[in-house]
Amino acid sequence: MKSELWWRDAAIYQVYPRSFRDSNGDGEGDLQGVIEKLPYLQELGIDAIWLSPFYKSPNKDGGYDVSDPRDVDPRFGTVLDAKALIDEAHRLGIKFIADIVPNHFSADHIWFKAALASPQGSHERSRFHFREGKPDGTPPNNWNSIFGGPAWTQVEDGQWYLHLFDSSQPDLNWENPEVMADFEKTLRFWLDLGVDGFRIDVAHGCAKEEILVDLPDPAGLTNALRLDYLDMSKEVRAGYLSNIPFFDREGVHEIYREWRKILDSYSGDRMSVAEAWVYPSSRGARYVRQDELHQIFNFDFLMIEWDAQVMADAIKKTLAELKEVGAPATWVLCNHDSSRVVSRLGSAEKGRALAMLTHSLPGGIYIYQGEELGLPNADLPDSARQDPAFFRSGGKDKGRDMCRVPIPWEAASENYGYSTGKPWLPQPTDWQRYAADAQKGDPAGSLELYRKSLALRHSHPALGGEGEITWIDSAPGTLHFTREPGLEVLVNATPAPVEIKVSGKEILLTSSGEPELNDGVLIIPADTTVWLQR
Ligand code: GLC
Repeated sequence: MKSELWWRDAAIYQVYPRSFRDSNGDGEGDLQGVIEKLPYLQELGIDAIWLSPFYKSPNKDGGYDVSDPRDVDPRFGTVLDAKALIDEAHRLGIKFIADIVPNHFSADHIWFKAALASPQGSHERSRFHFREGKPDGTPPNNWNSIFGGPAWTQVEDGQWYLHLFDSSQPDLNWENPEVMADFEKTLRFWLDLGVDGFRIDVAHGCAKEEILVDLPDPAGLTNALRLDYLDMSKEVRAGYLSNIPFFDREGVHEIYREWRKILDSYSGDRMSVAEAWVYPSSRGARYVRQDELHQIFNFDFLMIEWDAQVMADAIKKTLAELKEVGAPATWVLCNHDSSRVVSRLGSAEKGRALAMLTHSLPGGIYIYQGEELGLPNADLPDSARQDPAFFRSGGKDKGRDMCRVPIPWEAASENYGYSTGKPWLPQPTDWQRYAADAQKGDPAGSLELYRKSLALRHSHPALGGEGEITWIDSAPGTLHFTREPGLEVLVNATPAPVEIKVSGKEILLTSSGEPELNDGVLIIPADTTVWLQR
């Protein structure tokens, strides 16, 4: 059964507007470009779009460095364009989720400029975290920025300010009530304009504790926080991540309880989704208690190995943890910060099979632009990179530009129909086959698979919703479960075809390859997911 509240089982599509579609030829995507592509998204079958930040910003961190959260950056358009986009999305039956960045402002925000122009101890400085350095001239503590290098930068009069990310992103001091009041204004501004919800950036980061205390091993923690740091064992990683003085502190929950009241005071089921990296994952349920946020991104599948047991364990754990607080699960395969799924798993087939698996699970799904096209990461020369994570790590961390390359819309057009100007990141010259128009109507392509699976999520009574899943024992390397009424889901995560006994009578959808169904036995190709109808 479908959920009564739209967001609980929605398919939400992430638009990274800078790379989506450029309507005015300046080489950067914009809001009019998103409006142009809404019919494509409607046809794809998504329920909502989440737009990464389009607010005023010097763009040092792809717009996550906001200098005016209640205005649109001219590169993207105007507030009127934002209103036109929200209205047009609504007209097409698509909800609109905005991104909100509460952990930090841009150093170009008027508050930070005022803080720099004001004396030590002033209330202008108390909106951020300014501190004296240590007597030996080093920063107030040994914390590192997530992007590398120290988390502190010194200003002219000798004080230091805290920035968990780039030095252009000073962290806000949420103990100052002015910060809360200002964010309330921002929430209301966008809610009044018609947004249906917010994605909350670094939702686990706003409250800091023990700000003057050194960490025992800051370099180890920095490595543990890296998404691509796969050499560290799970246990060692968990040790580093379990108790960090700047993440997942009790104070963040006070903020979200206030925000929930604001969201609830508006009509139309407004929602919120937390980007909160918490350890162990069971702590995530605390963010989606009844009086806090609505959803939390479940990032298990952003990093998961292509291993049936590991995937089954992750699904069971997630569903059990969230059930305790009555929140729906979410499933995320990629986003603007991580490797594209087909590159991470090393094959298009595995990417498609994983997508179909998550599309069959209870709760909501998030799809990152280009995921539906099966886009891989782009190979970029270092000279093209723009991500501060690349620069702050001295080039050790290649950063996130590889998954932010502009979308190929048309195989035969200049810059694949993304822009008539020079794209802000170069697009690979061999992406013709990924272009949306080249894939249209190709039953073997990724785009058609996403379309069909999203259509079935709407039409099939067992898909979407939050109903139970019933596991069936199956051969090693495979997953087998049912969702009622009448749907049977099978995954072969091994490199060879497997025979599985099934009760389903008809193949509804296959992620790739050609399964055979004879007398209750399914021969399922390698790295494939199949949906069967009983
Ligand atoms: C979040 C965003 C990321 C950004 C960071 C700092 O993790 O997803 O893109 O760099 O916050 O705002």
